[in-house]
Amino acid sequence: MRIHTRLGLLLAGLALVATSHAADDPLEKAIKARQGEMQLRSFNAGPLFGMAKGQIDYDAELASKLAGNLKLLLDLDNGRAWAAGSHNEAYPGKTTALPKIWETYPEITDYGKNYAKAVNELAAVAGKGQDALKSKIGDLGKSCKACHDDFREKK
Ligand code: HEC
Repeated sequence: MRIHTRLGLLLAGLALVATSHAADDPLEKAIKARQGEMQLRSFNAGPLFGMAKGQIDYDAELASKLAGNLKLLLDLDNGRAWAAGSHNEAYPGKTTALPKIWETYPEITDYGKNYAKAVNELAAVAGKGQDALKSKIGDLGKSCKACHDDFREKK
């Protein structure tokens, strides 16, 4: 019984060490940070797509705020979150980022520039009516998709 308890404690201790190692891995932190930024993009872009499609009512104030948030995020210098070696071959199941991002660098920055252009153009008109929003939302969606198509693992 006592031996079992000790063994149990030892195993629990080892599990803790293993978990804290994973949590301390700077590359895993980087992966989480860039996924967090992507989640923020998605959280803010979602209702904009919904309004453009008429799935939710157009709200000028909200549209302009959300597009403004996407614009604010462009100023975030999150380059550290794209640390070399943090691709899906090294971290399977934790990231969908393809090694191609680093192998073809700086190709991905062109996709980033297209995205930034789409965000800036959208933010300029998002609060000016559903038609104005619609006129720019397509380019935003295309810029997200283009980068995902070329630099993310397919599901
Ligand atoms: C320049 C390239 C690029 C652009 C532009 C881009 N993404 Fe991503 N996105 C990625 C990559 C690469 C990943 C994979 C990140 C990872 O798993 O480490 C990703 C992952 C995601 C994820 C999954 C995050 C997670 O928790 O696993 C979401 C959601 C997402 N992107 C939304 C968007 C939206 C919405 C847009 C446009 C408004 C966008 N992205 C624009 C490259 C891009």
